[in-house]
Amino acid sequence: MLVQGGPWVLSVMSLLLLLWQEVSAIEVPLDQKIQQDLKQPPTIMKQSLKDYIVDPRDNIIIECEAKGNPVPTFSWRRNGKFFNVGKDPRVTMRKRSGTLEISFRSGGRPEGYEGEYQCFASNDFGTALTNKILLRVSKSPLWPKEVLEPVVVAEGSSLVLACNPPPGLPPPHTFWMNSDMMSITQDRRVSMGLNGDLYFSNVLAKDSHTDYSCNARFLFTHTIQQKNPYTLKVQTSRKVAETPPNFLSPTGTDSSRMMVLRGQKLQLECIAAGVPTPSIKWYKKGGDLNQKVKLDNFNKTLRIDSVSEEDAGEYMCMANNQIASIRHSIFVQVKAAPYWLDKPFNLVLAPNENSRLVCRANGNPKPLIQWLVNGEPMESDSSLPNPSRSVVGDTIIFHSVQIGSSAVYQCNASNHHGYLLANAFVSILDMAPRMLGAKNQLIKVIENNRTFLDCPFFGSPLPELRWFKNGQGSGLDGGQYRAYINGSLEIKRARVEDQGTYTCLARNILGKEENQVRLEVKEPTRIVRAPEHQSAIRGTMARFDCRVKSDLTLPITVTWLKDDKPLSLGWRLKKDEDSLSIPDVHEQDEGTYTCTVKSEIDQDTASARLTVLEYFFSSGTDHSGTDHSVEPTDVSVSTTVPPPPPPTTSAATTTISSTTTTTTTATTTTTTPPATTTASTTATTPVLVTSTKQADTNVLVGMAPGRVIRNLTVKPNSNYANVSWNHNFPAGSSEFQLEFTLDSNGSVSSVPVNQPPIKLAGLIEGAKYRLRVYSNEYHSISSNVVTFETSAAYIKDQVDIAAQGWFIGLMCAIALIILILLIVCFIKRSRGGKYPVRDKKDLPLEGVDQKGEDGSFDYHSDEDNKPLQGSQNSLDGGVKESDDSLVDYGEGGDGQFNEDGSFIGQYTVKKDKDETEGNESSEATSPVNAIYSLA
Ligand SMILES: *[C@@H]1O[C@H](CO)[C@@H](O)[C@H](O)[C@H]1NC(C)=O
Ligand SMILES: *[C@@H]1O[C@H](CO)[C@@H](O)[C@H](O)[C@H]1NC(C)=O
Ligand SMILES: *[C@@H]1O[C@H](CO)[C@@H](O)[C@H](O)[C@H]1NC(C)=O
Ligand SMILES: *[C@@H]1O[C@H](CO)[C@@H](O)[C@H](O)[C@H]1NC(C)=O
Ligand SMILES: *[C@@H]1O[C@H](CO)[C@@H](O)[C@H](O)[C@H]1NC(C)=O
Ligand SMILES: *[C@@H]1O[C@H](CO)[C@@H](O)[C@H](O)[C@H]1NC(C)=O
Repeated sequence: MLVQGGPWVLSVMSLLLLLWQEVSAIEVPLDQKIQQDLKQPPTIMKQSLKDYIVDPRDNIIIECEAKGNPVPTFSWRRNGKFFNVGKDPRVTMRKRSGTLEISFRSGGRPEGYEGEYQCFASNDFGTALTNKILLRVSKSPLWPKEVLEPVVVAEGSSLVLACNPPPGLPPPHTFWMNSDMMSITQDRRVSMGLNGDLYFSNVLAKDSHTDYSCNARFLFTHTIQQKNPYTLKVQTSRKVAETPPNFLSPTGTDSSRMMVLRGQKLQLECIAAGVPTPSIKWYKKGGDLNQKVKLDNFNKTLRIDSVSEEDAGEYMCMANNQIASIRHSIFVQVKAAPYWLDKPFNLVLAPNENSRLVCRANGNPKPLIQWLVNGEPMESDSSLPNPSRSVVGDTIIFHSVQIGSSAVYQCNASNHHGYLLANAFVSILDMAPRMLGAKNQLIKVIENNRTFLDCPFFGSPLPELRWFKNGQGSGLDGGQYRAYINGSLEIKRARVEDQGTYTCLARNILGKEENQVRLEVKEPTRIVRAPEHQSAIRGTMARFDCRVKSDLTLPITVTWLKDDKPLSLGWRLKKDEDSLSIPDVHEQDEGTYTCTVKSEIDQDTASARLTVLEYFFSSGTDHSGTDHSVEPTDVSVSTTVPPPPPPTTSAATTTISSTTTTTTTATTTTTTPPATTTASTTATTPVLVTSTKQADTNVLVGMAPGRVIRNLTVKPNSNYANVSWNHNFPAGSSEFQLEFTLDSNGSVSSVPVNQPPIKLAGLIEGAKYRLRVYSNEYHSISSNVVTFETSAAYIKDQVDIAAQGWFIGLMCAIALIILILLIVCFIKRSRGGKYPVRDKKDLPLEGVDQKGEDGSFDYHSDEDNKPLQGSQNSLDGGVKESDDSLVDYGEGGDGQFNEDGSFIGQYTVKKDKDETEGNESSEATSPVNAIYSLA
């Protein structure tokens, strides 16, 4: 079996194999040099329409453009015969193109050039063809002269006024008008049909006019031609008889046929006569009218804009009025001119390659496929068979193509309704290997990163590419390397030892070519000291670090962004190698600062946030409870605040002690304490305060802009106190710490609380406390300190005792004796010396005093005033008179001084004194405040 049919079976099988095998073709790179050198058969780029109607008043231009290498030459055929363009003085061919231009300036009739034209573009490798271009000159003839008799009809009868426009090219557009150039109103009864005639389903008396005129508009000449008008006379009768419907269009039998081509417009028309005017309905047999169906002209016309096969079938129109109903069937047949299923494409093949060209078209009837080579019919099997190609139906199979067999193939798919012509070239490309990329490229890569060494190449047949390092080895691939078909070599992790020169070598049967790529492996660029989040008081200086480590051979650039926008340095900001300095911090400086370090191959970034803090004065002695927190106008402070430390130290680092700067007016700048500073080091955070006319004891505190806690009020009972305060923190955003100190042993307790008011329970009866509230978030934002005393539990008994008369008497006597003793004592002392210093010196110092011991506090220099602490209120007046000027300051009130620092110092002490006196009505004084913050 196999012996018999062997060769035949084999050849069929190999044919099938070829058919199924992927079409192989070379992908030619878009590289300019390659494209320049690429020999290519012609390709038609532009041509005129198959059905080409020209305006006789213009020059005729028939287009034909093609590209190819070498540039194609052009020739024409007219009506199947060679058209000698050079011999006709009216015809010129455009340069580097086949486009014809026919000019009639020197006479001649355009009609003389009507015909079928075809352009041929040829070069050494083949010939491409255009379609057959049927050239026709547009026509807009006049209406024939005619005499139209008046039309006389009886009312109620039907009427058709014929239009019969002259046969123009392309056909004109028709419409009906009267002598006033008003269009005739169209309605269910009166309308124009597809052929241009005017149909009256029934005539009414009002239709009597002398000026029914059909008009034809010609598209090319933009002219309108008018037919002689009709005169219509209607004979009226007393009563118009009702009549059944009767078709005016279509005429004849009750069915008709219609043929339409796929993709074209279908219009079906049914116009009926009758009294009353019949209405028209459409049906399609065996289904509904689909979405594509449109009804025009008062349902008298059915339209489908683009017909497809499924629109074929029997359409029915029904006309009915009160009298009767009639119908007409139209059998619609859909045919199709050829249309593409698979259009052949240009092929660029290497020598000995196999491939195929496919040309598949459909149509109704089924199109015939005809192949041409360079415009000539392909030789039939009878004459000289070409072993390297065979035609199988709609496919040409190429087998082991040979150099020199380039050609342009034409496929003509035709049927009764038209043809499709496609050109596709087969180009056999032979090219020795070429390198397409830059020569001797330098690639830099960060150590341990992946990299690609590119070596784009081309050649035909496609060359084989191999990589070598430092001119050695047997082709790099596998392991650490991977060679791709596009010529790239991947190095998965570049190590220092991978540095070197790599060679890529492309080789095919026509030759070889090589290129080199040098690889350098670099250290990564890293930010080793990143900027840190920080807070700075307005007016101070902030500094962000950005220290970089990078490969010494890689230049780097450091750029800063603020809130992701480029930071313009201006005159204020300073950038140096390792940092960014922002002197004199403004509120607008708040934001996120990003340091970006870039080398040509990598980059690193780091960000940190700057928070700008505000200064506040908080008043200490405002008895009315009014808070005088204001922004200082004449205060200048310069200090550097470290970034927010952990909560335990934050109070220390953001609160400013006023201990060091009581006398100077100048601004001092201090160095940044390390971020790890603990409470014990806070005394080294000095600050300078200069104040003007703030009358009350003011203290400077670092704060978040605008946030305050004030009006702290305490309503104590025996073992609890109602505590309340005002603040302007956003609702729910903040929690507070309530800190209270038992006076007797100095024990400090702190409880976290939410929103005021709160009840502070568990207090000792009859004990003295100091209390303040501060923000959990910003420890420096604190209320004043309020001192209060819980009531004693035994107060009831006391009242009972006090009510006794004997007790009152005894008490009065004791008081009198003490008073006398005191007066005596006082007079004695006044004579002895001005200050009762020594006696009172032993009074226990408040917590405040310890602070003074470092000597920087002016407080101790005022020890002389201490005695006042022991004084009774009742004696105050007397003491004051003999007291030194400090007391006077206290009484002096606002406005007396244009204070400098020195004043503040003294002033502060005065207030402190008031505090220690236990003056109930005074608010906690600011120094105390400050010191608590420091604690
Ligand atoms: C294609 O074939 C049809 C039918 O043979 C023919 O009428 C038509 O002219 C051909 N077209 C071209 C461009 O040769
Ligand atoms: C046309 O037909 C549609 C439905 O077939 C109908 O709704 C419409 O009223 C008709 N129009 C006229 C002018 O008869
Ligand atoms: C280098 O490799 C690291 C780690 O694999 C990666 O994060 C980085 O983005 C790479 N850099 C470049 C420039 O490819
Ligand atoms: C080559 O191919 C590889 C893998 O598909 C790809 O990663 C590489 O980018 C390509 N190289 C070029 C130059 O296109
Ligand atoms: C709190 O203080 C402000 C100003 O310092 C004052 O206007 C307000 O009345 C006080 N509120 C209470 C409840 O005392
Ligand atoms: C504290 O508040 C509670 C309820 O708000 C009230 O009953 C009580 O009398 C208050 N105590 C004082 C001492 O104001």
